[in-house]
Amino acid sequence: MSIKVCNLKCEYKKNPIGIDTKNPRFFWQIESDKLNCLQTAYHIIVSRDMNFNDIVWDSSKVYSDESIHVEYKGKELQPRTRYYYKVKVWDNNQNQSEWSNISFFETGLLDNSAWIAEWITVDESHINVESCPYFRKEFKTSKKVRNARVYITSCGLYELYLNGKRCGDYYFTPGWTSYKKRVQYQTYDVTELINEENAIGVILGPGWYKGNIGFGGQRNFYGDRLALLFQMHIEYQDGTEDIITSDNTWKYSFGPILLSEIYHGERYDANLELIGWDKVHYNDSTWECAKLYNYPKNHIIAHEGAFVRKIEEIKPVEFIITPKGERVIDFGQNMVGWVRFKATGNKGDKVIIKHAEVLDKEGNFYTTNLRSAKQTIEYILKGEDYEVFEPHFTFQGFRYILLEEYPGEINLENFTGIVLHSDMEETGYFECSNDYINKLQHNIKWGQKGNFLDVPTDCPQRDERLGWAGDCQVFINTACFNMNTASFFTKWLHDLKADQLANGGIPYVIPNVLEERAHSSAAWGDAATICPWTIYLYYGDKRLLEEQYESMKAWVEYIRNQGDNEYLWNTGFHYGDWLGLDAKEGSYIGATPKDYIATAFYAYSTKIVRDAALILGKVNEVREYNKLLNNIVNEFNKEFVTPNGRLAAPTQTAHVLALMFDLVDDKIKPRIAKTLNDMIVENDYHLTTGFVGTPYICHVLSEYGYHETAVKLLLQESYPSWLYPITKGATTIWEHWDGIKPDGSFWSADMNSFNHYAYGSIGDWMYKVLAGINYDDIKPAFKHIKINPKNSFKYFSYIKSSYKSLYGIVKVNWEVLDHSIKFFIEIPANTSAEVFLPLAKIDTLYNEEKILLKDFFGSEIFQENNGVRFNIGSGKYYFEYTID
Ligand code: BGC
Repeated sequence: MSIKVCNLKCEYKKNPIGIDTKNPRFFWQIESDKLNCLQTAYHIIVSRDMNFNDIVWDSSKVYSDESIHVEYKGKELQPRTRYYYKVKVWDNNQNQSEWSNISFFETGLLDNSAWIAEWITVDESHINVESCPYFRKEFKTSKKVRNARVYITSCGLYELYLNGKRCGDYYFTPGWTSYKKRVQYQTYDVTELINEENAIGVILGPGWYKGNIGFGGQRNFYGDRLALLFQMHIEYQDGTEDIITSDNTWKYSFGPILLSEIYHGERYDANLELIGWDKVHYNDSTWECAKLYNYPKNHIIAHEGAFVRKIEEIKPVEFIITPKGERVIDFGQNMVGWVRFKATGNKGDKVIIKHAEVLDKEGNFYTTNLRSAKQTIEYILKGEDYEVFEPHFTFQGFRYILLEEYPGEINLENFTGIVLHSDMEETGYFECSNDYINKLQHNIKWGQKGNFLDVPTDCPQRDERLGWAGDCQVFINTACFNMNTASFFTKWLHDLKADQLANGGIPYVIPNVLEERAHSSAAWGDAATICPWTIYLYYGDKRLLEEQYESMKAWVEYIRNQGDNEYLWNTGFHYGDWLGLDAKEGSYIGATPKDYIATAFYAYSTKIVRDAALILGKVNEVREYNKLLNNIVNEFNKEFVTPNGRLAAPTQTAHVLALMFDLVDDKIKPRIAKTLNDMIVENDYHLTTGFVGTPYICHVLSEYGYHETAVKLLLQESYPSWLYPITKGATTIWEHWDGIKPDGSFWSADMNSFNHYAYGSIGDWMYKVLAGINYDDIKPAFKHIKINPKNSFKYFSYIKSSYKSLYGIVKVNWEVLDHSIKFFIEIPANTSAEVFLPLAKIDTLYNEEKILLKDFFGSEIFQENNGVRFNIGSGKYYFEYTID
C-alpha cells in the first residue's frame, strides 16, 4: 500500500471529548511513498460503535481534494455520545488507502438546557474570606459502571478530585473568558475512578474572576462569589443512568490554601490540611452546607481553547549568594509556571519563596519591575519527614527565586521549575549557522510559552498579564509558525467578539477588565481583523472567519464613524508606535504621527474585510469595502504623501507601513524604500521602530530590494537590536530594546518586562524570508506552498527550518558549500509548491542523482534574473547548484 491516512483530528484535536459543535470538522494527513500525491477522493464513516454497525454518517466516495475542515454532514449528533470515525482516500496516482485507524470524538452536553445541576457557593458571611473553599459530596453506585463523565465549571478557578485523585491534567480551568457572556465547562472521563462508594472534592480559587486583576488593585471584576456547577453522568452496564449534581446537599469548608492569587502567589498552611477530604468516610460534620446560587447557565459553552497543562520541568543551574547576602536559585531560563519544592523542618517552620526575572547590576535579587505583583509562595510546614509542595491557582514569571525562608540545607535537587502553558503542538523549527540567532529563536519560543497561558498576554509577571490586543496582533504570525494556535485563538477571538462595544469599538485588552473608555486604539483594535485573517491563512479556517466577520466589519465601521472625515482616522487616543525609539524624551509613544498610523491601519483592516468578504462569497461587500479602501488610500496620499514620494512622517515606521500595507503608488515605492534604507544605514544599521513598525521592517526591506540591510538589522548586536538582549544574557524577548542598558542599569523601574513577546515578531520573517517557507493566500493553510528563501548565503552557511502544516511537514534546509548551494525540500502529500532557488542557474541545477533539473521540467522551469523558478508536488527533493 503506497498511501496511508494518518493523524486524524476532529476540531483540531485528537480524540476530543466534550465538544458541542453541531457539525464538527475532520482533518487527516496522507503519507505516500510516491511524489506528487494529491487526494482525489475521500470516504469517511462515522458510527456510534467501534464496529461501525450504528452508522450516523457515511459520506460514500466524495470526489474532492479536501482533507482538512471536512464538515460532519450526518444525522443530528446526540449529547454525551462518543462517535467513532475512519477515513479512506484515493489519490492521483491510482492508489487507494486502507481505512485509517479508528479515531473518535465525543459530544458534551450540546445544549444548556441539559444542565440540571444547581450553582452552589459559600455562605454570605464567607464571601470575602481569602482562604480557598473545599467542596465535597459522597455518593454510592449500585451497579457495574460502563461510563462516567463529569461536566463542570465555576466562577473562579477549580480543581476537581474524585476518590483522592486529581481529575485530568488541565490547569486554570475553566479558563479565562469574558465570563459575563461566556464561561467554558470541561468534560472529564472518570469511568476508571468510580467505586461503589465515592467522594467528589472540588477546590475553588479566585483566579481572574474574583481575584486581583487589572490595575489599581481591582478585584471582584466579574463577581464577588466563587461558585461551582457540577454534573456527573454515570451510565451503568444495564443501560440505566445516575446523575450526580451540585446542590445544597454538598458541604464546604476552608482548608490549607490561605490565599491564592494570579499575581500574588499562594500562602499555604500544611497544618490545616483536610486529610482525606476527597475520600469516602471523611467526617465532614463540622463543614457548612453549600448554598444554592442563583446564577445564569445560558452562557455556558464547551471548552474551546487549548488546555493549560504542565509542559516541562526545569532543573536549577546555580545557587547564588548575592552581594546583599540573599539566597537565590537560578533556573537558567525565564519561565512561567511555578516551583515544586521539597522541604524538611519542624512544624510551623516556613518556606518563603519570591520570584524574579533578573538580578540587578550588582547581582542582587530584583523585583521592582513586578510592580504590585507579589509572586510569593509561603508554605508553613507540618513537620513531616519531607514535604513537597506545588501551588494551585497562581503562576509566576521568573528565572530566579529568592529563598527568604527555608529550613535546613539548600539542595538544588529539591527545587524544580514546572513550566505551564496552553498545550499547543509545536509546529515551527528554525536553526541556522549563527548561534545568536538560534538563541533568538529559543527566546521567541519561550516568549510564546510564557505568554500563551489560556489567553495571549503582554507579560506573565507584573500586575498586568492581560490580553493586550496590540501585542497579540503584532505577534500572531510568528505564534502560528511556532505552534498550532487555532483552538487557542478561536477562543480568544470569540471573547474579542463578545467584548466588542455596541459601536464596534475594541477594548485594549481581551477579555476586557479595564475601564469603560479603554478601547479602540489603532493597531490594538485591529486585532479584530488581523487575527481571524491570520488564522485563516495558516489553517484555512473559514468557519472562524465567518464567525468573526460581523465583528471585523463592525471594527472598520467604528473607525469610519470617527471624526468628520470618513476616510481618515485623526481623532481619539492611540498608543501609536508604542515604545518606538524615536519617541520624545519621557514618552512611550514613537515619533510617527498617530493619525498616520491610525489611517494606515484603517486601510489595512478595510482591505482584510474586503478579502474576507471575497472568501465568504459576499459579493456586494467586496465591492463596498474595495471602494472604501480606495477612498482611504486616496485620502492617506493627500494627507501624508507628496506626489514625488516623500512622506509627511520621516520615521522608519511610517516608511514601513506605507510599503507593507500597499498604501502608495507603485511608482514612488522605490524612493520610499530607499529612504527607509538610508535612514537605517545612517543609523549604522539600527532600528528605531516600536510595536507597530518592528514586525514589518525586515519584510519591507527584503521585498523592496534591501534584503542585506534586513539581514544586517537582524545580525546587529549593539543596542538597539534583536541580538543586543542576547549579549546581555536574555532567555526571553524583552519589552524594551534596552530593558537592561549597556551599563547594566534598567530602562525603568515600573514598566520593564523581560518576557514580552511583541518584538519576537521577527520570527515570522525568519521562517518566511530566511528559510523561505510561505503559505499562498490564494490556497491557504499551505495547500499551495511558496518556497522562496532570499539569498542570505553570505551571512549563514546553513538554515534548517520546518513547519508542521495541517497537511503534514514542510521542510526547507539549505547549505552553502564551497562553490555551490544545496537544498533539501519536503512538501506534504495533498499539497503542491512553487520553488524559487536564489542565484540558481538552469544549466547547473541538479538533483541528487546529478541529473539536470531542466531535463525533467523541460519548459516548466524558468530562469529568472536572480534564480530559478519551478513547481513541484509532494515529496522529498534534493537540489544542488553552483554559484560564482
Ligand atoms: C503593556 C503593553 C501594551 C501597552 C499598551 C502595557 O502596559 O504591557 O504591552 O500593549 O500597555 O500600550
